[in-house]
Amino acid sequence: MSSYVESLATTCFFAKVFGLIVEVRCSLLNKSTFYKFIIMNWKLKAKIQNLVSFLPDSLSYSIYYWIQRNVGSLKDSKLNPTSRLLAGIETVKRIEQVNRSPIGATFLEVGTGRRINTILAFWLLGAEKVVTVDLNPYLKEELVRADLDYIVKNKSEIESLFGNRIFNNRLDALLEFVESSYQIKSLLELLNIEYIAPGDASHLNLRDGSVDFHTSYTVLEHISPEIIKAILKEGQRILKQDGLFVHCIDYSDHFSHSDKSISSVNFLQFSDNYWDKIAGNRYMYMNRLRHDDFIDLFQNLNCKILMNEPDIDKNLIVQKLNFELDARFKSKSDEVISTVGSWIITHR
Ligand SMILES: C[S@@+](CC[C@H](N)C(=O)[O-])C[C@H]1O[C@@H](n2cnc3c(N)ncnc32)[C@H](O)[C@@H]1O
Repeated sequence: MSSYVESLATTCFFAKVFGLIVEVRCSLLNKSTFYKFIIMNWKLKAKIQNLVSFLPDSLSYSIYYWIQRNVGSLKDSKLNPTSRLLAGIETVKRIEQVNRSPIGATFLEVGTGRRINTILAFWLLGAEKVVTVDLNPYLKEELVRADLDYIVKNKSEIESLFGNRIFNNRLDALLEFVESSYQIKSLLELLNIEYIAPGDASHLNLRDGSVDFHTSYTVLEHISPEIIKAILKEGQRILKQDGLFVHCIDYSDHFSHSDKSISSVNFLQFSDNYWDKIAGNRYMYMNRLRHDDFIDLFQNLNCKILMNEPDIDKNLIVQKLNFELDARFKSKSDEVISTVGSWIITHR
């Protein structure tokens, strides 16, 4: 009871502080300029994320979602399923490049997030079944519906994203389904998606050797190295003998996505301690592992690398960065420092 009262008091306190800041700022700037000011200023954004992460779980999640919907990447004007449909298409492209097929395959996706576009693409490209797991039940029905409405309204754009590889009968079945007044549960049934949340990819209730492809898209950079190891070990258990890991990792400082005044490796100047204070919360945790660290992680588990596709930012001139790299990163090569993402495909 006393802990309930304490968390209520903490919540009220933070809500008051936040309300006060909003009030003061709104009186100085108009609302949309104020919002832009927040997201384009990475330190301020980090402070707000820290503040919100202190709130009790359910309140914290709803406030964070409200912020994303009103100020951030989930604003109505920014909602568009194409980037994650492309993520699914790109995943499948790489599976095919190592001479495997998605058709009839079972996928395990780590880190569903709020929407299902990546795994919808797997289904449209012939997957038999997708199991998707997330530590947090972030999936949002209103966003899924908005994505499907977009697909209905822009059928030819969607078809051209997929080229001639799309299963037309599946797309038609989906469009017909969306015309009805559907429930999300029956949508997931149509797509043969099993959504596990809350669920931990390092402890799955799935049979040994039951999965063909173990995938993630911009997830592993948000998970601590110990847990990644546990997730990959669990992946080795559930993957078939010839199963593959197919992971796309974003190594960039995610604050640089909205604050264009900092470079994509800005966070490499900070010590672990300092960085943890700035961004060590549930919304922005980034492990800052670099490409060589990830390659080591896979190799130490004896996963044979089939494809290693680093995304090197050619415009990033390491010697000209306006900060010094922290000791943790100083011994890394310029090429590693300028690698801002990668695809890694390995045997189990
Ligand atoms: C940045 S989001 C990525 C979401 C989605 N893949 C996308 O492309 O938009 C990372 C997700 O990974 C989830 N996650 C973190 N640790 C996890 C774990 N151990 N098992 C499953 N999901 C996890 C988080 O809850 C979060 O929803």
